[in-house]
Amino acid sequence: MFPKKEKFGGKAAYILALAGSAIGLGNIWRFPYMVGEHGGAAFIIIYIICSFLISLPIFLSEAVIGKVSGHGSYEAMKRLAPNSAWRGLGMMAVISSFIILSFYCVVGGWSVDYFVRSIAGTMSVTSRESASALFGSVAGSVCEPLTAHLFFLGISAVIIVLGVKKGIEVFSKISIPLLFVMMVIVTVYSISLPGAAEGVSYLVRPDFSKIDASVVASALGQSFFSMSLGVGMVVTYTSYSKDSGIVSAGAWTTVFDTLFAVIAGFAVMPAVFAGGLEPEAGPSLVFEALPYVFGQMAIDMPVFSRIATIIFFFSILLAALSSSISLFETCVNHAMEHNKFSRRKATLLVLVLTWVLGVLCSLSFGPLKDVKIFGENIFGFCDELTSNYLMTLGALAFAIFVGWRMDWQKVTGSVGRFFHFMIKWIVPPAILTIFLSSILS
Ligand code: TRP
Repeated sequence: MFPKKEKFGGKAAYILALAGSAIGLGNIWRFPYMVGEHGGAAFIIIYIICSFLISLPIFLSEAVIGKVSGHGSYEAMKRLAPNSAWRGLGMMAVISSFIILSFYCVVGGWSVDYFVRSIAGTMSVTSRESASALFGSVAGSVCEPLTAHLFFLGISAVIIVLGVKKGIEVFSKISIPLLFVMMVIVTVYSISLPGAAEGVSYLVRPDFSKIDASVVASALGQSFFSMSLGVGMVVTYTSYSKDSGIVSAGAWTTVFDTLFAVIAGFAVMPAVFAGGLEPEAGPSLVFEALPYVFGQMAIDMPVFSRIATIIFFFSILLAALSSSISLFETCVNHAMEHNKFSRRKATLLVLVLTWVLGVLCSLSFGPLKDVKIFGENIFGFCDELTSNYLMTLGALAFAIFVGWRMDWQKVTGSVGRFFHFMIKWIVPPAILTIFLSSILS
């Protein structure tokens, strides 16, 4: 009934593609800031425990669905639970990935803009005011961000049109190793800056007194976002994998994602402290603080600073691209399976729809900034809706479905039984806790 599915060339490709999805903007700006806020090394320890005990079982729930059905989330639910409301979960996952893709590509556009400026030497940030003015014009004007956004979407679409093997696999195999190498270079530069030691100690000093239930919930939420759970991306990628080693694939993805987050922390925070800036700046940490710090360093070491800036923004661009293609593919796969579109037609459809919502998100920093939905601009609304609600509910539903509805009779071995126990009894209440704490806070 379906044309034969494309597959990844092997396990390494499957794992690198998953790592590419997981490693993204969440690791580079969000993780370092959360670590600093929530007790340094103590937070890192809790984050790692949450990733392996909660996020990994959710990952496996999605992977099991992809493996058993061989389809993306909507068609998978249709087959595994025929004529039931579970297909709504499949649909919600596709819609969530579409919304995340739309606003994610806007940030991807900013990273294109900064990367081009770092090469052209037109960053010229000499003061904090000029750093925020630059970010204001990159994000808040009309032509510039829309052009960069379209460019970013265009590159993502080209990778997707090339297909699972020639597009996603080739891109992930090149970009992920390159990303690690580049981040390590920026880290070494950042740690060598005068005044960087304080940033290092901000990350490594364990302060267990800051750990309470809300910090655990934040660690879990961060791990969740970072591992790209709850939107059926893992279902889709696993349906392209040939072999069955999902537990080790999940473990490797978790390890790569965490390792990259920690390295990014050491690239960003020492530089922030070296520049005498506030570490709690959030998204602007990357787009305002770092150009300022690198700009300051350019006074004494112009060549090094220039190279570090180029490498840093190229890393952000690659990390954003490898995540955006995973969301893009999740949507394209749905249009191919459900609407029976060819890959080209499906890509074009997703491209156009994402462009429309993305333009609205982008303009919500400029001409549309007064358009508010539940008190947020359009971009903020899309972000909150997906990160706080749809992703969490999706992950909860995937875990309940796999834990309670699927037949685990054939699962043997202590690892399988351990994960089944976690998926059935521990993960759902844990997710409910994050969900309620994020709604109530
Ligand atoms: N994990 C990505 C990051 O850290 C972002 C992301 C969130 C994502 N949810 C996703 C990517 C779902 C793919 C699918 O930046």
